[in-house]
Amino acid sequence: MSDDARRVIVDTDTAGDDTQALLLAATSERLDVEGVTICTGNVEFNYMVENAKYTLGLAGLAEDVTVYEGAREPLVKSHEHAEHVHGEGGLGGELFPDTGIPSGDQHGADYIVEQAREHPGEITLVCIAPLTNVALALRKEPNLGELLDEVWVMGGNVNCLGNITPAAEFNFWADPEAAKVALRELDVTLFDWGVTVRDTAFDADTLARFEESDTEYAEFFEEITQSVREFNQESFGEDMTTQPDAGLVAALIAPDLIEASGTYHVDVDEREGLTRGYTSVDENGVTDGEARTRVIESFDAERFESMFEAMLFEESPEAGL
Ligand code: RIB
Ligand code: CA
Repeated sequence: MSDDARRVIVDTDTAGDDTQALLLAATSERLDVEGVTICTGNVEFNYMVENAKYTLGLAGLAEDVTVYEGAREPLVKSHEHAEHVHGEGGLGGELFPDTGIPSGDQHGADYIVEQAREHPGEITLVCIAPLTNVALALRKEPNLGELLDEVWVMGGNVNCLGNITPAAEFNFWADPEAAKVALRELDVTLFDWGVTVRDTAFDADTLARFEESDTEYAEFFEEITQSVREFNQESFGEDMTTQPDAGLVAALIAPDLIEASGTYHVDVDEREGLTRGYTSVDENGVTDGEARTRVIESFDAERFESMFEAMLFEESPEAGL
């Protein structure tokens, strides 16, 4: 980590792909992970808490980076998880860490607000979960957007098919009220499901190459992707994985990987039903909403894969640039 590393707090629903985003952030020389907050999402809450602590432990940061427990339920909707994708427990279905490491002594949303107030303009919030903790932090501190440096979010599906319903992506669908508030109140850089599918997918050949490595990170990646590879094979007929959360972190580490982006008015449908969690992105400027969300539209897939491979082979992600 260099002296001018970007200070980040990672808000995560730690399962499969979240773990790889945490490892990228933890091994990057350009980021300094100050803390991790856990949010309702992928699997049952206590699994996600342990998954985060275990993952930080793999990176040698278990004693240095505290995990704070946040929202166990969405703001309004009831909790729905994605265990069918990530496997029971969220790490492929056969790994259930029990680290014995204590969690932080405050709610994740309180931690985010406290750090933003103590270090105005210095903290970047990296959101790779439903946005419940972010919405709770905004309730506590309406000026949060002014106090944070930047807010980067993995979520939504920009004028493309969703992954949890045809209309929606999981993070925005799981807590649409929270996503609506966060996008209304904050200047967000958004890495959506569309760019995820287009530019972060690893095919069977890539996965086979990764399996040839016997590093601890490569073996962990093979473990945690078991379930999602089976899910993708059954659902789409292809042995592959996508890396939504790691893609977001890679874009933060190396913004020159971003090939195209646009700033638009983005809103989320919070109503229950067919379009719950739908991401409205006004690319043609036909609404009167404020255009404040920077949407990453294209991302250098080859250099991302190279960064990811460098991390798996236990170099810094920057070694792959
Ligand atoms: O839709 C993908 C997102 O939902 C990722 O962040 C994944 O971890 C789940 O949280
Ligand atoms: Ca996630």
